Amino acid sequence: MIPSVLPTYNRAPLTFVKGEGAWLTEADGRRFLDLGAGIAVNALGHAHPALVNALTEQAHALWHVSNLYQIPQQQALADKLVEHTFAHTVFFTNSGTESCELAVKMARKYFYDKGQPEKVEIITFDGSFHGRSSAGIAAAGSEKMTKGFGPLLPGFVHLTFGDLDGVTNAITEKTAAIMIEPVQGEGGIRPVPDAELKALRQICDDHGLLLILDEVQCGVGRTGKLFAHEWAGITPDIMMVAKGIGGGFPLGAVLATEEAASGMTAGTHGSTYGGNPLGCAVGCAVIDQVATPAFLESVNRKAGLMRQKLEGLVAAHPDVFEEVRGSGLMLGLKCSATNIDVVNAGYDNGVITVPAADNVIRLLPPLTLSEDDIAEALIRLDKAAAQVEGQLATA
Ligand SMILES: Cc1ncc(COP(=O)(O)O)c(C=O)c1O
Repeated sequence: MIPSVLPTYNRAPLTFVKGEGAWLTEADGRRFLDLGAGIAVNALGHAHPALVNALTEQAHALWHVSNLYQIPQQQALADKLVEHTFAHTVFFTNSGTESCELAVKMARKYFYDKGQPEKVEIITFDGSFHGRSSAGIAAAGSEKMTKGFGPLLPGFVHLTFGDLDGVTNAITEKTAAIMIEPVQGEGGIRPVPDAELKALRQICDDHGLLLILDEVQCGVGRTGKLFAHEWAGITPDIMMVAKGIGGGFPLGAVLATEEAASGMTAGTHGSTYGGNPLGCAVGCAVIDQVATPAFLESVNRKAGLMRQKLEGLVAAHPDVFEEVRGSGLMLGLKCSATNIDVVNAGYDNGVITVPAADNVIRLLPPLTLSEDDIAEALIRLDKAAAQVEGQLATA
């Protein structure tokens, strides 16, 4: 008999009942150091007082009104995002995949309104992940995500990650945009080098294309800048955001320049919940914390420390790990053992990591974790690695 919850997930036998900072408590009382943060969602850790206050204050005042009316919390969050980024305007969603939907619609509508309706195609890259909606899976294009779900939304051209010549060769009169994650998350923590992001920006400028950056996983302070593309000194035309911006409350956003957003006039898009007072009150509290030089500096400091320690871990366990990669506190350990075995050994030793493609385990801790937490993480990861070595020896 089918379970009452549709069985689309492979769940670990863990039930967390409480969270505080970088720590989770299981129903049986065991404590786990959370290096997954809900897959880069709990940017400020669990039960951060500023977020708890923002949510409860708003909950006492007003939960929801429709976008038929003014929503001051939404206006405030949009103003903050415009102040801190390239963007002139923001649309709020509830998830990354909804942000992908709007990014695709916005790019196509832009060219339609400019009298170039043939420009509908969006270039994407292998290993990418843009969500599970029809547009999201068509954008990623992998067999794993699309098999059985046809007919797929047309208009995506899939290229090899890192192949810049391929990009130039693929551009035709139908090309509208390039969509890319500055650091691939699900694809195995694969950062796009700064020079390549710059080159993609240049290609878009030279050919009159829109650059869409998917910062759903790598944005909101994760790499040590408010948004990852800032490291390359470029700006996109459209950016997809979600995950960290709500700190655990479902919230997403599409940020855009005035020009790129020019087709999205009244009635062209909407959402019942997107930009709801509860989500935006929390989003404001997240941005107030993260978008400060001191906070971002602390992320960079902790990222440096963690990376250095992880290099030592990899060197100590060559049968388990191959390399450290990533940017800021978006780190990956490419495994020589099977990544799922390492994740499971982590569970046994009270540390949570997240598997990704390319036999990688992801470390996406709360950006607020302490240096003591980092030290404890390394002790637990070391024990997990030793456990995997023991399993390999007896296999
Ligand atoms: C880069 C990227 N884009 C889009 C998504 C989809 O976001 P959501 O699961 O909130 O729909 C994800 C989720 O993992 C992601 O990592």
